[in-house]
Amino acid sequence: MVVFAIVMVAYYSHEGYLAPWAPRLNAPRLPPQVVGVTTGPVAAGANVFYDKGCEFCHTVSGYGGIRGPDLSFVGDRLIRDQIATRIFSGATNMPSYSGKLTQQELNDLLSFLVSRRRLPPVGPPPTGFHAAQGNTEK
Ligand code: HEC
Repeated sequence: MVVFAIVMVAYYSHEGYLAPWAPRLNAPRLPPQVVGVTTGPVAAGANVFYDKGCEFCHTVSGYGGIRGPDLSFVGDRLIRDQIATRIFSGATNMPSYSGKLTQQELNDLLSFLVSRRRLPPVGPPPTGFHAAQGNTEK
Protein backbone atom coordinates (compact mmCIF):
# COMPACT_ATOMS: atom_id res chain seq x y z
CA MET A 1 0.00 0.00 0.00
CA VAL A 2 2.80 2.36 0.90
CA VAL A 3 4.60 1.43 -2.28
CA PHE A 4 1.39 2.00 -4.22
CA ALA A 5 0.99 5.45 -2.67
CA ILE A 6 4.53 6.40 -3.53
CA VAL A 7 4.09 5.22 -7.09
CA MET A 8 0.84 7.18 -7.43
CA VAL A 9 2.39 10.37 -6.04
CA ALA A 10 5.32 10.00 -8.39
CA TYR A 11 2.96 9.29 -11.28
CA TYR A 12 0.72 12.26 -10.63
CA SER A 13 3.59 14.67 -10.03
CA HIS A 14 4.97 13.64 -13.36
CA GLU A 15 1.57 13.89 -15.06
CA GLY A 16 0.94 17.24 -13.38
CA TYR A 17 4.10 18.59 -14.88
CA LEU A 18 2.96 17.60 -18.35
CA ALA A 19 -0.77 18.25 -17.95
CA PRO A 20 -2.08 20.65 -20.59
CA TRP A 21 -4.10 22.68 -18.09
CA ALA A 22 -1.14 23.38 -15.85
CA PRO A 23 0.63 26.65 -16.60
CA ARG A 24 4.29 25.89 -17.19
CA LEU A 25 5.89 28.08 -14.58
CA ASN A 26 9.36 26.90 -15.45
CA ALA A 27 9.23 27.93 -19.11
CA PRO A 28 12.56 29.48 -20.06
CA ARG A 29 12.85 32.94 -21.59
CA LEU A 30 12.65 32.78 -25.41
CA PRO A 31 16.13 32.46 -26.92
CA PRO A 32 17.35 35.04 -29.49
CA GLN A 33 17.16 32.57 -32.37
CA VAL A 34 13.42 32.27 -31.74
CA VAL A 35 12.84 36.00 -31.25
CA GLY A 36 14.94 36.81 -34.33
CA VAL A 37 16.36 40.10 -33.05
CA THR A 38 18.14 41.21 -29.88
CA THR A 39 17.20 44.90 -29.79
CA GLY A 40 14.17 47.02 -30.67
CA PRO A 41 10.46 46.60 -29.97
CA VAL A 42 10.19 42.95 -31.01
CA ALA A 43 13.00 41.93 -28.61
CA ALA A 44 11.52 44.09 -25.84
CA GLY A 45 8.11 42.54 -26.49
CA ALA A 46 9.54 39.04 -26.16
CA ASN A 47 10.73 40.02 -22.69
CA VAL A 48 7.28 41.34 -21.80
CA PHE A 49 5.82 38.05 -23.06
CA TYR A 50 7.99 36.25 -20.52
CA ASP A 51 7.90 38.77 -17.68
CA LYS A 52 4.09 39.08 -17.67
CA GLY A 53 3.59 35.34 -17.70
CA CYS A 54 2.06 34.94 -21.17
CA GLU A 55 4.62 32.24 -21.83
CA PHE A 56 3.38 30.14 -18.91
CA CYS A 57 0.26 29.40 -20.93
CA HIS A 58 1.31 30.03 -24.53
CA THR A 59 3.96 28.33 -26.61
CA VAL A 60 6.08 30.21 -29.12
CA SER A 61 8.24 28.01 -31.36
CA GLY A 62 8.30 25.17 -28.86
CA TYR A 63 8.93 27.25 -25.72
CA GLY A 64 6.24 27.76 -23.13
CA GLY A 65 3.02 26.27 -21.79
CA ILE A 66 0.13 24.73 -23.69
CA ARG A 67 -2.85 25.85 -21.65
CA GLY A 68 -3.64 28.52 -24.25
CA PRO A 69 -3.26 28.33 -28.03
CA ASP A 70 0.19 28.13 -29.59
CA LEU A 71 1.16 31.66 -30.61
CA SER A 72 4.10 30.74 -32.87
CA PHE A 73 2.19 32.07 -35.90
CA VAL A 74 -0.40 34.28 -34.25
CA GLY A 75 0.56 37.10 -36.65
CA ASP A 76 -0.90 35.05 -39.50
CA ARG A 77 -4.24 34.70 -37.74
CA LEU A 78 -4.85 37.96 -35.94
CA ILE A 79 -4.09 41.59 -36.63
CA ARG A 80 -2.56 43.89 -34.05
CA ASP A 81 -5.90 45.29 -32.82
CA GLN A 82 -7.39 41.83 -32.38
CA ILE A 83 -4.43 40.76 -30.26
CA ALA A 84 -4.72 43.94 -28.19
CA THR A 85 -8.42 43.25 -27.62
CA ARG A 86 -7.62 39.74 -26.41
CA ILE A 87 -4.96 41.00 -24.03
CA PHE A 88 -7.38 43.54 -22.55
CA SER A 89 -10.46 41.38 -22.36
CA GLY A 90 -8.86 38.03 -21.51
CA ALA A 91 -10.89 34.88 -22.09
CA THR A 92 -12.40 31.92 -20.29
CA ASN A 93 -9.05 30.65 -19.10
CA MET A 94 -6.97 33.75 -19.69
CA PRO A 95 -6.71 36.65 -17.27
CA SER A 96 -7.41 40.18 -18.49
CA TYR A 97 -4.27 42.32 -18.63
CA SER A 98 -6.22 45.55 -18.64
CA GLY A 99 -4.29 48.00 -16.44
CA LYS A 100 -1.42 45.56 -15.95
CA LEU A 101 0.78 46.71 -18.83
CA THR A 102 2.22 50.14 -19.53
CA GLN A 103 1.57 51.62 -22.97
CA GLN A 104 5.20 50.90 -23.84
CA GLU A 105 4.96 47.27 -22.71
CA LEU A 106 1.76 46.81 -24.69
CA ASN A 107 3.26 48.31 -27.85
CA ASP A 108 6.35 46.12 -27.58
CA LEU A 109 4.30 43.01 -26.82
CA LEU A 110 2.09 43.65 -29.87
CA SER A 111 5.13 44.23 -32.09
CA PHE A 112 6.52 40.91 -30.93
CA LEU A 113 3.28 39.00 -31.46
CA VAL A 114 2.49 40.41 -34.92
CA SER A 115 6.02 39.41 -35.94
CA ARG A 116 5.19 35.75 -35.21
CA ARG A 117 4.40 34.78 -38.79
CA ARG A 118 4.94 31.93 -41.17
CA LEU A 119 3.67 33.86 -44.17
CA PRO A 120 5.43 36.90 -45.60
CA PRO A 121 3.82 40.26 -44.75
CA VAL A 122 0.84 41.12 -46.92
CA GLY A 123 2.08 43.38 -49.70
CA PRO A 124 0.27 45.13 -52.53
CA PRO A 125 -1.70 42.78 -54.78
CA PRO A 126 0.24 41.28 -57.68
CA THR A 127 0.03 43.16 -60.99
CA GLY A 128 -2.92 42.02 -63.05
CA PHE A 129 -5.02 41.42 -59.94
CA HIS A 130 -8.52 42.87 -60.18
CA ALA A 131 -10.29 42.87 -56.88
CA ALA A 132 -13.73 42.95 -58.48
CA GLN A 133 -13.06 39.82 -60.54
CA GLY A 134 -10.96 37.96 -58.06
CA ASN A 135 -7.56 36.64 -58.95
CA THR A 136 -8.00 34.21 -61.81
CA GLU A 137 -4.29 33.45 -62.11
CA LYS A 138 -3.64 29.86 -61.15
C1 HEC B 1 -3.52 31.41 -17.44
C2 HEC B 1 -3.15 31.13 -18.80
C3 HEC B 1 -2.97 32.31 -19.76
C4 HEC B 1 -2.15 33.40 -19.63
C5 HEC B 1 -1.27 33.77 -18.45
C6 HEC B 1 -2.27 34.15 -20.86
N1 HEC B 1 -3.13 33.52 -21.71
FE1 HEC B 1 -3.62 34.10 -23.61
N2 HEC B 1 -4.99 32.61 -23.73
C7 HEC B 1 -5.18 31.63 -22.78
C8 HEC B 1 -6.26 30.76 -23.22
C9 HEC B 1 -6.80 29.56 -22.47
C10 HEC B 1 -6.69 31.26 -24.49
C11 HEC B 1 -7.84 30.71 -25.35
C12 HEC B 1 -9.11 31.22 -24.77
C13 HEC B 1 -10.30 31.14 -25.67
O1 HEC B 1 -10.16 31.11 -26.88
O2 HEC B 1 -11.40 31.15 -25.09
C14 HEC B 1 -5.85 32.41 -24.79
C15 HEC B 1 -5.94 33.15 -25.95
C16 HEC B 1 -5.02 34.13 -26.33
C17 HEC B 1 -4.95 34.75 -27.63
C18 HEC B 1 -5.83 34.42 -28.83
C19 HEC B 1 -5.11 33.34 -29.61
C20 HEC B 1 -5.82 32.85 -30.84
O3 HEC B 1 -5.19 32.19 -31.65
O4 HEC B 1 -7.03 33.11 -30.98
C21 HEC B 1 -3.93 35.64 -27.59
C22 HEC B 1 -3.43 36.55 -28.73
C23 HEC B 1 -3.37 35.59 -26.26
N3 HEC B 1 -4.06 34.65 -25.52
C24 HEC B 1 -2.31 36.36 -25.82
C25 HEC B 1 -1.82 36.38 -24.53
C26 HEC B 1 -0.84 37.33 -24.04
C27 HEC B 1 -0.16 38.38 -24.90
C28 HEC B 1 -0.66 37.07 -22.71
C29 HEC B 1 0.22 37.82 -21.72
C30 HEC B 1 0.01 39.26 -21.65
C31 HEC B 1 -1.51 35.93 -22.37
N4 HEC B 1 -2.21 35.55 -23.50
C32 HEC B 1 -1.59 35.33 -21.12
C33 HEC B 1 -4.50 31.49 -21.59
C34 HEC B 1 -3.59 32.40 -21.07
